[in-house]
Amino acid sequence: MQITVTVNGVTYTHDVEPRLLLVHYLRDVLNLTGTHIGCDTSQCGACTILMNGKAVKSCTIFAVQADGAEITTIEGLARDGQLHPVQEGFWEKHGLQCGYCTPGMIMTAVDFLQRNPNPTEEEIRHAIEGNLCRCTGYQNIVRAIQYAAEKMRSGS
Ligand code: FES
Ligand code: FES
Repeated sequence: MQITVTVNGVTYTHDVEPRLLLVHYLRDVLNLTGTHIGCDTSQCGACTILMNGKAVKSCTIFAVQADGAEITTIEGLARDGQLHPVQEGFWEKHGLQCGYCTPGMIMTAVDFLQRNPNPTEEEIRHAIEGNLCRCTGYQNIVRAIQYAAEKMRSGS
């Protein structure tokens, strides 16, 4: 089936098999390997991307379901060589160790902060419930998202 999708501002048209998962389309067809695969049970969240502005697990969607959609992956977050505030937060607050979960965590946080710019710690923890990290113990991830929230509110 033919699909047309816009990924990180670039429009692509491809013939894909109906069974191709969106995460495999991004990684194997577009070579955007920043989106990770951490499980085969839709649990880990490593594959999270933004589809039409909403965070979704790209292993739970077929590429054909993304036909006509606007997609943002971790590769599309930085602007003009400037990290997105959430990326900067992970950098500043040491929000990662192995980094496997990080792209998914960041995309989830970007969507969350758009909806809740001034979250409590509890709300942040709730927001990242669908993203598993086996390294950090989550504390610095929460701090990274708090850093980003503050930075985005101050508009700097
Ligand atoms: S790879 Fe998608 S949830 Fe784990
Ligand atoms: S930093 Fe290793 S899984 Fe999160």
